[in-house]
Amino acid sequence: MILLDGKSLSKKIKTDIKNQVDTFKSAGKRPPHLVAILIGDNPASQTYVSAKKKSCEEIGFNSTVIKYPESISQSKLLDEIEKINVNNEIDGLIVQLPLPPHIEPSLVIRNISYKKDVDGFHPINIGNMMLQQPCFLPATPMGIMALIENYNIETTGKSCLIIGRSNIVGSPLSILMSRNTKFANCTVTLAHSKTKDLNLLTKKADIIVMALGVPKFLTNDMIKDSSVIIDVGINRIKSNQTKSGWSLVGDVDFESVKQKCSHITPVPGGVGPMTIVSLLKNTLLSYKRVIYK
Ligand code: GUN
Repeated sequence: MILLDGKSLSKKIKTDIKNQVDTFKSAGKRPPHLVAILIGDNPASQTYVSAKKKSCEEIGFNSTVIKYPESISQSKLLDEIEKINVNNEIDGLIVQLPLPPHIEPSLVIRNISYKKDVDGFHPINIGNMMLQQPCFLPATPMGIMALIENYNIETTGKSCLIIGRSNIVGSPLSILMSRNTKFANCTVTLAHSKTKDLNLLTKKADIIVMALGVPKFLTNDMIKDSSVIIDVGINRIKSNQTKSGWSLVGDVDFESVKQKCSHITPVPGGVGPMTIVSLLKNTLLSYKRVIYK
């Protein structure tokens, strides 16, 4: 079994980005700047945004986290987004999801300039992705594709089962995995909560991507020998093995599945760091005006 080590791959990519940033700085240019808007006090969102900020700092990006209380109105949030859209010193803007119920996420995403949408969630970026045009790809699917490419995983003619159809992971990944390119040439099945006989699908799949949000859902008996397992789940469960009383587990029962599969991502240290590094890559592309002039 080969561990798909997102932690070490992301470190290499971060070093490469840092070298580029150092070169820009030595030439007297400002560094790339990512802004994250965080609303309310969702602990998972706070953790994700802190991790993004820390990574920015490691590689020499400027990063700003703007925090608003849960009670912020939708119109005030849209006004603040517009200020960032027109600020030439800011290259990337993300609004951490989920949002409070009185704020419409699709409206918020539409109001972020597509040129600064380094999360790749804006309809223009999604449309360009569909049409294989230059765009910001959504960070988690982009990170998964980078893992597959770096570990030279065969996709041509392979079946890929994606479990979970969110706008952030499952749906865009289903598009990317079925592109006619060397590392994305699968026959894709997109399964979800209404899928019948999931076991029959998991047992046939060459590549399984779990993005369901159910701890340890995928077990040894559900997969075939030598499949490739990508785990997007990050679930906090009670544990008597840790000091804090909690531990992070994926959607895959890692200990059993690792005995049967050919490749597997750990949680933590698999897809998570690749998501963050993809966001950094997009921010650098935005800074260099590579995608949109
Ligand atoms: N919430 C969970 N994942 C993400 C992500 O990739 N970007 C944003 N903005 N919010 C998220």
